Amino acid sequence: MSFKAVVVGAAGGIGQPLSLLLKQSTLVKELALYDVVNAPGVAADISHINTPSIVKGYLPKDDGLQHALKDADIVVIPAGVPRKPGMTRDDLFNINASIVRDISVGIAAHAPKAFVLVISNPVNSTVPIVAEVLKKKGVFDPKRLFGVTTLDVVRASTFVSEAAGKPTESLEYRIPVVGGHSGETIVPILSQTQPSSNFDQSTLEGLVKRIQFGGDEVVKAKDGAGSATLSMAFAGARFATAVLEAASGKSSQQPEYTYVHLSADAGGKEIESSLPGKAEYFSVPVLLGKNGVEKILPIGNTTDYEKKLLETAVSQLNGNISKGVSFVESSK
Ligand code: NAI
Repeated sequence: MSFKAVVVGAAGGIGQPLSLLLKQSTLVKELALYDVVNAPGVAADISHINTPSIVKGYLPKDDGLQHALKDADIVVIPAGVPRKPGMTRDDLFNINASIVRDISVGIAAHAPKAFVLVISNPVNSTVPIVAEVLKKKGVFDPKRLFGVTTLDVVRASTFVSEAAGKPTESLEYRIPVVGGHSGETIVPILSQTQPSSNFDQSTLEGLVKRIQFGGDEVVKAKDGAGSATLSMAFAGARFATAVLEAASGKSSQQPEYTYVHLSADAGGKEIESSLPGKAEYFSVPVLLGKNGVEKILPIGNTTDYEKKLLETAVSQLNGNISKGVSFVESSK
């Protein structure tokens, strides 16, 4: 089984390597690359790779977005502007909110059944924006909309394996990361680290900070040239592949962590009622299936320290979520 995949924002720092990685997937039969600039160039380049998928590039002219989205099974969105030093993800809201809203209008019209994977920041608000647009058009399915938070999980395993003195074994390390995707809304549950690791409290707090603010290390090192692109492309491709593998019928008992509307499954409602406050959206452990979210698993036991982290995350997230919802309500 293979699918039509669309990358919206395909000519960007994330879009290009993400498109390259998706071109390597045998689960993709058609790869549509859309951007407001340079998408045909990126598509021409990638199309010379001798893997089975057909690659086409689209610009806004001649209804490019509509043609790119038509019959899509999965739409991955890394469109928008990235951070510069000193900026938070929320500082991107003013520009990226309208970009994501307009793309969502296209998805509602031309690919209403597609899996939608949102990378554009601030994810905590852009996912509610997509949901509100799809709701307005009567095509919202919470099982098919995902905020991509995989990079937080990827960073957690890298940083924890380093701290455990086993940097080459990072693939072995599995750490649940829940909440949202910015600063203190990112909550690594280090007490559930597999293989189990005993860190003292100060190492633990250092690790939590590093996972929460790992993106800043990249923004600072790039010194004005943007934020994480290559590690994000890796993480985005990993998550997109998991969604497609599940859609093709290959089930996995390994959860993916992703930011979803908690109505996607009964397990989400249980998590919502166990959280220290209201949270309509949360990054949670999800088992994927043919139709997207198949089951939301419980977050599991947390320490008192992690409960405090969850409290902070929930209070910040609510503001981010309402901001996205109000933006669509106030849009024409
Ligand atoms: P970039 O500036 O290199 O690329 C963005 C691309 O989007 C550009 O090619 C631009 O032409 C395109 N674009 C702008 N408006 C568009 C529209 N209306 N339709 C289609 N394409 C449009 O930025 P980069 O570094 O690729 O980052 C993209 C987004 O991903 C940013 O918002 C960034 O904050 C976010 N990001 C998310 C992460 C996550 O973990 N979810 C991690 C890192 C970045």
